[in-house]
Amino acid sequence: MKKLHKIILVGSGAVGSSFAFSLLQNVTSTELIVVDINKERTQGDVLDLQDLIPLSDGANIVRAGSYDDAVDADIAVITAGVPRQPGETRLDLFKRNASILKSIVIPIVNSGFKGCFVVSSNPVDVLTTITQQLSGFPKERVIGTGTSLDSARLSVELGLKLNVPVDKIKNAYVLGEHGDSLFATFAETTVLGKKLSKIAALDDESLHELEESVKNRGSRIISLKGATHYGVAVCLMKICKAILTDEEIILPVSAPLTGEYEQNNIYLGTPAVIGAGGLKRIIELPLVPTEYAKMKLSAEKMKKILVSLE
Ligand code: LAC
Repeated sequence: MKKLHKIILVGSGAVGSSFAFSLLQNVTSTELIVVDINKERTQGDVLDLQDLIPLSDGANIVRAGSYDDAVDADIAVITAGVPRQPGETRLDLFKRNASILKSIVIPIVNSGFKGCFVVSSNPVDVLTTITQQLSGFPKERVIGTGTSLDSARLSVELGLKLNVPVDKIKNAYVLGEHGDSLFATFAETTVLGKKLSKIAALDDESLHELEESVKNRGSRIISLKGATHYGVAVCLMKICKAILTDEEIILPVSAPLTGEYEQNNIYLGTPAVIGAGGLKRIIELPLVPTEYAKMKLSAEKMKKILVSLE
């Protein structure tokens, strides 16, 4: 029998279970192990997910498990974390999620895990950096969802603004922090096969409006339905599929910057090539001076948060 790929998913809340739902429909021959502190909910989710397997790829498997299952897994996906509580500062949230992360990464590493970590818990750039530091893994084997979701959102917003279908927009990238200091860059963007600059002149005000719509989309969704999960779940699925099948796709992710964009020692959103073994190469986009300054701002913001955790 063909050896199955193996993914361990930590956190079966809204993001984790949407990821599982998407993964089981988009990969073949994969065993998905779900680990969550809420055992009863996880068991229910696993039974629910098993029901879709005969309707998609019958060779996939899903079951509940523990960190020890990571020993021979290809990927550990981390979606676990807590949302901010009333009266709590962002810093409190960072500290709590960083300590939850520690309680996940250490036992996974201790299991003998030799695969790739893929992180979506927020604040994702900081938590991906911490995952790499805690695990001591080579940087290319730790990836965060980063600005993959924001870049998808940028295509949606740009499509609405230009009145073109989203599939006619390519390479619209959001870089930097997955958060308030993100920024859009259109150096590589094409619309209907032509450079964006040939189709539409985006003045500073339109650019600002687009960036603000991308930034606010998450909180708009949260205020309307309480959580965002479909978009980021598909980002996770695409990263995992690319690793399992050595697809070498280009996706904006939270990647370890080592000199790119004049930044070091921090994970931030940039396009990168994802394939077997994780992050194969960062694609450094040509930025204009104002964009370099925005990247620097994101890096400084993330580093301040990291220092506050020490
Ligand atoms: C969002 C969450 C996933 O932006 O951070 O929707």
